[in-house]
Amino acid sequence: MSTSAKLWGGRFQKPTHELVDQLNASLPFDQRLARHDILGSLAHVTMLARQGIVSTEDARAIVQGLRAVLSEIQEGHFDFRLADEDIHLSVERRLRELIGPVAGRLHTARSRNDQVALDFRLWLRDTILDIAEGIVETAQALLDVAEAHPDVVMPGYTHLQRAQPVLLAHHLHAYVTMLGRDLARLRELYGRVNRSPLGSGALAGVPYPIDRQLVADLLAMDGILENSIDAVSDRDFALEFLAALAILMAHLSRLAEELVLWSTSEFGFIEFDDAFATGSSIMPQKKNPDVAELLRGKSGRVFGHLIGLLTVVKGLPLAYNKDLQEDKEGVFDAADTVTLLLRVVPPMLRTMRIDRERMAAAAEAGFTLATDVADALVRVGVPFREAHEAVGRLVAYCIANRKTFAELRHEELAQFHPQLATVDLPCTAWDAVRAREHPGGTGPEQVARALATSRNQLAEASEWIVAQRRRIEQAFARLLSEDLP
Ligand code: ARG
Repeated sequence: MSTSAKLWGGRFQKPTHELVDQLNASLPFDQRLARHDILGSLAHVTMLARQGIVSTEDARAIVQGLRAVLSEIQEGHFDFRLADEDIHLSVERRLRELIGPVAGRLHTARSRNDQVALDFRLWLRDTILDIAEGIVETAQALLDVAEAHPDVVMPGYTHLQRAQPVLLAHHLHAYVTMLGRDLARLRELYGRVNRSPLGSGALAGVPYPIDRQLVADLLAMDGILENSIDAVSDRDFALEFLAALAILMAHLSRLAEELVLWSTSEFGFIEFDDAFATGSSIMPQKKNPDVAELLRGKSGRVFGHLIGLLTVVKGLPLAYNKDLQEDKEGVFDAADTVTLLLRVVPPMLRTMRIDRERMAAAAEAGFTLATDVADALVRVGVPFREAHEAVGRLVAYCIANRKTFAELRHEELAQFHPQLATVDLPCTAWDAVRAREHPGGTGPEQVARALATSRNQLAEASEWIVAQRRRIEQAFARLLSEDLP
């Protein structure tokens, strides 16, 4: 690998040591910022020309050159050289090769510190939209499964012990509401990411009559970051992104854990489609829920990236420090991990088979109606604690005598509470579910309403994603096509 040409190297008498080049270089991973780097430069040079900081003629040459560099990158014949150190210098080096010394005017009124912060924000803005879309699709898949099984009852659990019957649709909808908040977090974060640091220079601002708002407008950003020192040195937008993804992964990991359990022969609630399960290399009978397990397992690396970046940032004096170059790989990996998972999970959910009989049988087994029996006593005036105690003794009796509630005779019931023999006892899981028709409850009408509300919210989120993308595409199309945008 060739040693550094040091594009800005007037002060230096020697090239950097080649191991230093290797350590210092971010090009192997920041090349994925190339497109956004060039778009940011197009906006910057446009502003420089409009403000008379560089001549229109020079700006035109730079614009044409930058577009040519972008084509080379997009067509895959751009020569990424480690010696260039990072994507910013790599693009600038190529620009100089293409258009000569005038390329040197592009970096007027700019530093790589505000440049990289801009590139990262532009990239993250697109990535947030992609992940938001994946969340919408995952939530929609959950809704599809829920709506296709409106009358399937299952045991709800606490402490992983059968607790009370719920509708499968209600259980799945719990994840939809979690994903709805994950989506809301990303949307809110989007507004904080979508602000331009450009014009902050190295840290103090720049001694030119720049128009920062114009740059933000050209890039379809929502405004500028108001403090130059903050703009080049904080990475809280990346931390927020990782935090949002970590929480999302915690939700998906819980879902994954349940699906793994449900697919065991012990539960037997679901079976994954063959396309979403794998075999064992030794045990011919096995069908393993690898996709769900990876969904659960990959949460670890996403959490790790959050802690990693927090640790990078926490001890840094203002403003930019090279440590900040460590902000990217974790974010890229977290984004790639989550993006792939969000594409795999929806079809996995839609194709899994649900054993409604197994679920229904489990919903009523294990005295899951005990609370409802106590509630029946409460309705005829028995204090809840007294009812709870009587039903507790009843359950113990049933266990000792291997009986279910439905098999008990009046005289047996009366032994535990005189009113037990006189009230209408709930006998089925369906009775228990239907008794909970209030907002947030598992009653079938309520659940149908909740599913419909979530459908609408997801449709609105999809429209928001489309609108943001359109706005970005329009701005980028201008930067890439107009004579001097
Ligand atoms: N590659 C660098 C990064 O990712 C770009 C900024 C370099 N700035 C500097 N002052 N060395 O952070």
